[in-house]
Amino acid sequence: MPITIRHATIDDILAMQNANLHNLPENYMLKYYMYHILSWPEASFVATTTDDVDDIMDQLTGEEEEDGKILSLPTETKLDPSYIAHTGEKLVGYVLAKMNDDPDSKETEPNGHITSLSVMRTYRRMGLAEKLMRQALFALCEVHKAKFVSLHVRQSNRAALHLYRDTLAFQVLSVESSYYQDGEDAYAMEKRLELEQLLPSSFQNAQEEDNLESDLFEDIVKQGVEEISV
Ligand SMILES: CC(C)(COP(=O)(O)OP(=O)(O)OC[C@H]1O[C@@H](n2cnc3c(N)ncnc32)[C@H](O)[C@@H]1OP(=O)(O)O)[C@@H](O)C(=O)NCCC(=O)NCCS
Repeated sequence: MPITIRHATIDDILAMQNANLHNLPENYMLKYYMYHILSWPEASFVATTTDDVDDIMDQLTGEEEEDGKILSLPTETKLDPSYIAHTGEKLVGYVLAKMNDDPDSKETEPNGHITSLSVMRTYRRMGLAEKLMRQALFALCEVHKAKFVSLHVRQSNRAALHLYRDTLAFQVLSVESSYYQDGEDAYAMEKRLELEQLLPSSFQNAQEEDNLESDLFEDIVKQGVEEISV
């Protein structure tokens, strides 16, 4: 099941909103997704797959017989079609991130904020949320020079708390009482960003590093060998 992690674009916002509505009680209007993606296009990411997309389309259009005739129209659709973005991919996770642009903020350093993160249920525990988060943190630091990033998480959200605190080394700064609409408290969390530690190569256990000079040299040698042997 190949999954792609790439920048979120305007074409993804309906599918992102759909995933958000399925996974979280904190929801946003489409214009808020648009605001993120138009203002900080490098900061938000989606995880997508083309797996099952044909099945979903079959469910929508009816199964085709060999001669192309429609066999039957389904009475109900098992999968929500809006998971399929305009690009023809199924969106299975997203991270919505931004720079803090609050004019009343007392912070003196540029800093980022994770607005929302979720992964569709069947695609959880595969490392997708960690990967989405690492991409967003790297982008906020590299492109926008964010010195730290903040977020809020429900006290009862064990999965997210594990991800932020134990996997990504966020620190709990404070407890914000009744932060959520239903009265639940939130942990306000923060992580200092150091570009060196966020480089994709430092968490992918990359064995090889690109070295333009030696790669070019290798190509030239290979070409030479091929020419000699012709
Ligand atoms: C929280 C959430 C985004 C995690 O997504 P995920 O793709 O399953 O997470 P990952 O596979 O990247 O796991 C990251 C770490 O969290 C741990 N984790 C994931 N789900 C967990 C769970 N239910 N309980 C405990 N730990 C969990 C993983 O074991 C992994 O830990 P490790 O680094 O020690 O191996 C996902 O459960 C989700 O979408 N939940 C609903 C929406 C939500 O709560 N969003 C966060 C709002 S603040």
